[in-house]
Amino acid sequence: MTTLAVIGAGSMGAQIAQQAALHGIEVNLHDTGEGQLRKARTSNEGHLSRRAERGRISESDAREALERVTTTTDLGEAVSGVDFVIEAVFEDLEVKRSVFHQLNLLAPRDAVLASNSSTMGFSKLAGVTVRPEMCVNMHFFYPVLVMDLVEVVRGPQTSDITTERAVALAREMGRTSVLVNREIDGFIVNRILHAATQEAYRLLDAGVASFEDIDTAVEKGLNWPMGPFRLGDFSGLDITYNARLHMYKTTGDERFKPSPQLAAKVKAGKLGRKTGEGWYHYEK
Ligand SMILES: NC(=O)c1ccc[n+]([C@@H]2O[C@H](COP(=O)([O-])OP(=O)(O)OC[C@H]3O[C@@H](n4cnc5c(N)ncnc54)[C@H](O)[C@@H]3O)[C@@H](O)[C@H]2O)c1
Repeated sequence: MTTLAVIGAGSMGAQIAQQAALHGIEVNLHDTGEGQLRKARTSNEGHLSRRAERGRISESDAREALERVTTTTDLGEAVSGVDFVIEAVFEDLEVKRSVFHQLNLLAPRDAVLASNSSTMGFSKLAGVTVRPEMCVNMHFFYPVLVMDLVEVVRGPQTSDITTERAVALAREMGRTSVLVNREIDGFIVNRILHAATQEAYRLLDAGVASFEDIDTAVEKGLNWPMGPFRLGDFSGLDITYNARLHMYKTTGDERFKPSPQLAAKVKAGKLGRKTGEGWYHYEK
């Protein structure tokens, strides 16, 4: 069984660690501050106790899964003796490069170094290590405790063995993986989502239909659980906006230019559920 270190205990890292622990994997969870680690533990305790209350897991399994996650602010301690590291720190190239540089020095030489980056060209991280063949992107989806998919993305130098180890870890964690054979912006899911969302915004901006009706059409006609506007509110409209801006800047393709109506929402601080209002209104 794999031993795992997860670096960064934010929204993604905390749940990646917990998902692995639910499947029997011993995990060291690292962040720079004790406060963030406490927050991650409290959040995971909440998720698992709700599962136990609903009878989806026994109280003892929930307790054991929580105990399998050891937290530490010491990076060296976190990666000592592990087989696999998943990095989930801020989406900032310099922060990630610095973390990968340290992981290369501190993690066992045979450990795979994976990143959960959504947008970063992964070779930019692998390039700071002396083991680019052992680096891979494992793109989990939020919320990790619920979403079944992991996109395993090969960098130009990722070896077959490393790819197989990433696929095997996803399986061990009870997750379905798909293989993306080369680095490409947005991987599979976000490219398809961006294309569909862009069309939804084009229809809205052209006055063809209201956002409510576009959501209803997509939910009832395509059987998607959420239409593009409801999904935008759920993930945060700033995230949707920044993702589109990133695609627009990197491809120069006008099709990705953020909609003026989306830009106006972000400028007004109406970011969706987290601010109480986005396309829809939410009770605080
Ligand atoms: N949020 C999503 O929906 C989502 C989905 C898929 C992938 N991702 C990717 O996951 C990664 C993390 O995203 P998130 O939403 O969890 O971010 P977040 O801001 O919630 O968490 C980032 C965490 O990293 C920690 N951190 C920062 N620098 C660090 C360092 N040097 N060492 C250790 N910890 C450090 C921070 O303290 C914070 O707890 C990003 O690369 C993002 O692109 C996010």
